[in-house]
Amino acid sequence: IEYGICIPHLCHVPGLTDIGACRLCIVEHITNGRSVVTTSCTLKVQEGMVIRSNTDRIKRLRHNIAELLVAEAPNSRAIQDIAVRCGVKKVRYPFRNSNCVLCGRCVRACTELWHANALGFVGRGKNRQVERPLNMRHEFCKQCDYCVQICPMTITPCDGPMKPGEEYLCGKCESQLMITEEVPDSCVWCRLGEGFDCGRYAGNKALR
Ligand code: SF4
Ligand code: SF4
Ligand code: FES
Repeated sequence: IEYGICIPHLCHVPGLTDIGACRLCIVEHITNGRSVVTTSCTLKVQEGMVIRSNTDRIKRLRHNIAELLVAEAPNSRAIQDIAVRCGVKKVRYPFRNSNCVLCGRCVRACTELWHANALGFVGRGKNRQVERPLNMRHEFCKQCDYCVQICPMTITPCDGPMKPGEEYLCGKCESQLMITEEVPDSCVWCRLGEGFDCGRYAGNKALR
């Protein structure tokens, strides 16, 4: 981001441990002449490393990841916006209307920022979910509400939540892709919940 190369991401939160959950941030890491697709948020930067963030292969894979994500949670405006910005125009998968995409933002914020440990993952595979211990308000919960603020599911589509069976890819925010087209390889997506005038691109201008 510092260099104007913004790679789409969802589970990454600056300052929190990265867990590579959403896989939106995939890149090609060229090592010993071979290309390995990996999540960039979990990749340690090293001198001389070669990374390709916007190849046809990455764009195709990222498009599919974003499409699956928006099919899982069409009622998140944040995820709708990410999908549109990743080039998704039509969703081929059935909408599931889930209320959690297991990004782990809430769990890590609770544990690492507030040291409350009031949230955690339980279960495996398709039964995996976020819960409070014993499904009750944990006595150590500091009621900071940060887990709610940082959750992509709390930002609903502009027209309100979509009803089951009536979900669609919104795409109304597509105009906000303009910057991406004008400045190849860059993206105005910085942090969940922050607007498109993120400072770096304020006033629809290219890199300062
Ligand atoms: S409100 Fe409670 S559960 Fe949520 S982040 Fe704060 S301490 Fe954790
Ligand atoms: S509740 Fe929200 S922040 Fe927490 S894992 Fe699920 S989608 Fe992510
Ligand atoms: S931001 Fe890297 S895997 Fe989610």
